[in-house]
Amino acid sequence: MTEETAPYGTGPGGSPAVPRKRVRTHHLREMKQRGEKFAMLTAYDMYTAATFDEAGVEVLLVGDSASNNVFGNETSLPVTVDELLPLTRAVARSARHALVVGDLPFGSYQASPEQGYLTAARFMKEAGAHAVKMEGGAEMAPQIERMSRGGIPVMAHIGFTPQSEHALGGYRVQGRGETAERILRDAHAVEEAGAFSVVMEMVPGDVAGQVTKELTVPTIGIGAGPDCDGQVLVWQDAFGLRTGRMARFVKQYADLHQVLLDAATAYREDVRTGQFPGTEHTF
Ligand code: KIV
Repeated sequence: MTEETAPYGTGPGGSPAVPRKRVRTHHLREMKQRGEKFAMLTAYDMYTAATFDEAGVEVLLVGDSASNNVFGNETSLPVTVDELLPLTRAVARSARHALVVGDLPFGSYQASPEQGYLTAARFMKEAGAHAVKMEGGAEMAPQIERMSRGGIPVMAHIGFTPQSEHALGGYRVQGRGETAERILRDAHAVEEAGAFSVVMEMVPGDVAGQVTKELTVPTIGIGAGPDCDGQVLVWQDAFGLRTGRMARFVKQYADLHQVLLDAATAYREDVRTGQFPGTEHTF
């Protein structure tokens, strides 16, 4: 790795060392070429952004999943551009190394390439995003082309696209059997339109592997098997802040719900019994 191309130096034990460089879209492409996997996580605020950044996570996505992980909605559909911009700004201000991607919400880009460009420009200009993500395959190629032409790096998102949940008939694996062709067509269409990477959600592993082999830009899987160039998870799922039934593709790395529940219960008990504040907390 040359100094120019390496997003991270490697420290003792393979951990990321300082100083590290800002991850750029070309670093992800170079990692694909070298066969190195990279990680993407969602983030919606300053502390998670700074922590995931410190861990060396290469890409932070301010997902429209904020709708159902921050704003309390049932789906990703209701969240608005004006709600996502401040979250994106907080993440962009707090991540020193990761590539920060702002997710374009439902209805903010589908109407026309011009609408898409103007929305994407707000994420770059007002929120400091380094790139935007948008859902859709071949039908969104004109939007991707317009943004790319206008200097905005685009991460495409194909396969199961949550904003089209109702059109797709619910959360369903896409690209099984004969419909695999459609996934391949979409992947090539978004790459040709200028996307710098492609998220594939809930796509059979062999289809995602085939797409990854055929594309020159990196693929990022969520429920798309181990052969993608990168992986993404929603952090509240992966680290156990959200409870309840998880999708099969989620691996849980922590139980933050339990950690917070225990801490909040202990605090309440300390206040109730007069253990807090103690003399050491009193002026
Ligand atoms: O909004 C989101 O979090 C996403 C990821 C799951 C890819 O689109």
